[in-house]
Amino acid sequence: MKLLVINGPNLNLLGRRESTHYGTLTLTDINTKLIEKADGRAEMEFFQSNHEGAIIDRIQQASGFDGIILNAGAYTHTSIAIRDALLTVKIPFVEVHLSNVYAREDFRHKSYLSDIAKGVVAGFGWMSYILALESFLSESK
Ligand code: DQA
Repeated sequence: MKLLVINGPNLNLLGRRESTHYGTLTLTDINTKLIEKADGRAEMEFFQSNHEGAIIDRIQQASGFDGIILNAGAYTHTSIAIRDALLTVKIPFVEVHLSNVYAREDFRHKSYLSDIAKGVVAGFGWMSYILALESFLSESK
């Protein structure tokens, strides 16, 4: 199974960003945990960008991947263009958030991705990514 892990804006600063919301691990730490958890059961590629168009380009070029683990960061709440790219490639994706976006500001309650996602995991810190991975691994058994 081939999985693409995409992180959007400001997630490159994990470890330095508001730790009450996002914890203390860096993105590299989280990616390492994903590789450890997969333990050879999934081939994973990692992509992070602060730019909406670059994320769209990566999604458009994702043919061959069985699934996407996506934390689109703030673009979750704004980007019809990322939604359209995901609808076009038709690769199942899990929407991930470190924080519980529903316990935060109202503008974070709107997601342009949730209704077309395979599932949504929010509020479990770095474990949100692991749970998303588990959902793909359990399906491939
Ligand atoms: C986030 C939540 C978003 O609202 C925020 O803009 C982020 C991170 C999360 O992982 O909790 O950048 O996606």
